[in-house]
Amino acid sequence: MRAIEFQEYGGPEVLKVVEAEAPEPGPGQVSVDVAYAGINFADLKARETGYRVPRLPFVPGLEVSGRVRALGEGVTGLTVGQEVTALTEGGAYADVAVADATTVFPVPAGVGLRTAATLPTVLPTAYALVHSVGRLQPGETVLVQGAAGGVGTVLGQLAKAAGGTVYGVVSSAAKADYAREYGYDEVFVGDFEKPVRAATDGRGVDLVLDPVGGDTLRAGLASLAVFGRLVSFGNASGAKAWSVGQPELYPHGVTVGGFSILTLAQTAPAELRALAERAFAKVVDGTVSLPVTAEFGLAEAAEAHRLMGTRTSTGKLLLRVGG
Ligand SMILES: NC(=O)c1ccc[n+]([C@@H]2O[C@H](COP(=O)([O-])OP(=O)(O)OC[C@H]3O[C@@H](n4cnc5c(N)ncnc54)[C@H](OP(=O)(O)O)[C@@H]3O)[C@@H](O)[C@H]2O)c1
Repeated sequence: MRAIEFQEYGGPEVLKVVEAEAPEPGPGQVSVDVAYAGINFADLKARETGYRVPRLPFVPGLEVSGRVRALGEGVTGLTVGQEVTALTEGGAYADVAVADATTVFPVPAGVGLRTAATLPTVLPTAYALVHSVGRLQPGETVLVQGAAGGVGTVLGQLAKAAGGTVYGVVSSAAKADYAREYGYDEVFVGDFEKPVRAATDGRGVDLVLDPVGGDTLRAGLASLAVFGRLVSFGNASGAKAWSVGQPELYPHGVTVGGFSILTLAQTAPAELRALAERAFAKVVDGTVSLPVTAEFGLAEAAEAHRLMGTRTSTGKLLLRVGG
């Protein structure tokens, strides 16, 4: 089979097409003939910095759609040939990928394989951020960093549907226009502290959702209303790990939380499965749409990484593998 792997860390050029043995599913696992693989920012971090890379060479990729190829020992409830969508621990940029059965889902009714590949990472993540961790209530205000991206476009739609007033932050005017189509009431370009205060009559926001870290996370904390919540879910800035304590939390009674879908898949797979099923229902009932803005052949994975790495992509990017 074909796979995209890197043997060293670096820019998009380290992604190479190789011929490899198709992986076999171990006990409790499922192999999938891949139709489409989704691109995630975490794939770029893996390639550049070794984020969640156990060893080299490494085949990146965290989500696929396709058809079940083989079932490992003890797997029930799925059949060979069934259309599925799956969260993987790497290995998705390939003709065949393997996933734990707990993170393999039947393609939801009415959803095609192309859209199905966009579901496994961003949709449950956004659902958890708005509902499980962020606990957004109707009438509250929420501020989202990276509003035009994969997670960001879903967050705008889910937060709006939950009755929030939704503010976004992006790095360009074009992205601001794009985000406004996905639930955002107002979108700020770059600096956001003063605009947030102005938009909320000086009060600040009830919820901040931060995938950037560093100075942006600290500015988000400073933008919270009294009793506000901030949820950290990434470190796109590459800043060193943040920490908060009494000086940041006590004065306004604010709360800081965190979320990682990949960690939850390992620590609480049953919870992850229930979360994903609730989240997928939001696509089936039309609350959320997942815009695919660019599609590349498997061999063009480096081009997809270049696009996302230059901060010019919006929505979801896909690799067409089996099609
Ligand atoms: N915790 C979880 O479970 C989880 C799951 C999925 C994704 N994530 C995180 O969510 C974020 C979005 O992921 P995605 O796959 O949907 O990617 P994406 O949003 O489609 O694309 C990458 C995003 O990162 C932002 N960005 C890129 N470089 C940046 C930098 N140096 N500083 C600040 N922002 C930068 C861009 O926003 P602007 O150019 O508009 O600033 C862009 O929206 C990533 O940080 C990712 O790691 C976390």
